[in-house]
Amino acid sequence: MEIKNQIILITGANRGIGHAYAEEFLKADARKIYLGVRDPETVREFAEKHKDRVEILRLDLTSPADIRAAAEKAKDVTVLVSNAGVLEAGDLLDKQVIERSRREMEINYFGPLALLREFAPVLRGNGGGAFVGVSSIAGLLPFPGLASYTCSKAAMHFLIMQARTELALQNTKVFGVYPGPVDTEMARDIHMPKAAPRDVALETIRGLREGHEDILPDQYARESYELFRKDPKELERKLRRDYLEMMKAA
Ligand SMILES: NC(=O)c1ccc[n+]([C@@H]2O[C@H](COP(=O)([O-])OP(=O)(O)OC[C@H]3O[C@@H](n4cnc5c(N)ncnc54)[C@H](OP(=O)(O)O)[C@@H]3O)[C@@H](O)[C@H]2O)c1
Repeated sequence: MEIKNQIILITGANRGIGHAYAEEFLKADARKIYLGVRDPETVREFAEKHKDRVEILRLDLTSPADIRAAAEKAKDVTVLVSNAGVLEAGDLLDKQVIERSRREMEINYFGPLALLREFAPVLRGNGGGAFVGVSSIAGLLPFPGLASYTCSKAAMHFLIMQARTELALQNTKVFGVYPGPVDTEMARDIHMPKAAPRDVALETIRGLREGHEDILPDQYARESYELFRKDPKELERKLRRDYLEMMKAA
């Protein structure tokens, strides 16, 4: 699909990968960008700078009223980018794991699901368009220390696959984005080489243009995905061995 002339709504558009999406979709000649944000003040300056092509939408993913109002207002959307997300580090046996999991599922799964439900008729009305769901390579593999986040991103991965099946009926293309570590606030405590948010945005745009359903925007994601594709069980065993060695050494 071409980016030129698309009308794109991005959730979590005020910072991190979402902000990079806003900048790069504008550079790629999108006709209009809706910045979905919890606090409009965080994007006021950016919206003012690009006022001919940018509009702010108040959109907290935990608010059904915000999601409904956004779908009523932005009836011209052709590409929905479900990017907003949260990460709370921890292990499965932590005392707070249930509360943490509920918070992550609320924003990383139930929010995108509600958004998709409200916007599917909008996309259909505009000829089909596209849904772009940002999961994570951590939605495909277990990562020590990110126990509940991986589960919420796996739920997002399945939402993407389900949507691809069902929305084919209305000619909506569905793309999944599976980044490795990216240099944003979310990953500040992850001490590994990190991709730049701009590169995630550029690779996503390339994926949309070239029709890649699964977008692996950085080297870590591509290498992990390759191992996953070849032998998921062996990769799981390898990650478990690495984890046990790390814990013994600690
Ligand atoms: N960074 C990584 O290493 C990495 C790797 C793989 C996948 N991802 C995924 O990429 C996406 C973007 O992450 P990021 O790295 O850019 O994170 P980030 O810098 O922490 O940004 C998170 C964004 O989500 C928004 N958000 C949080 N709670 C929300 C809610 N209830 N309603 C609406 N928006 C909400 C935040 O808005 P506020 O400013 O209002 O909090 C912010 O715009 C996420 O889905 C994340 O899981 C990130």
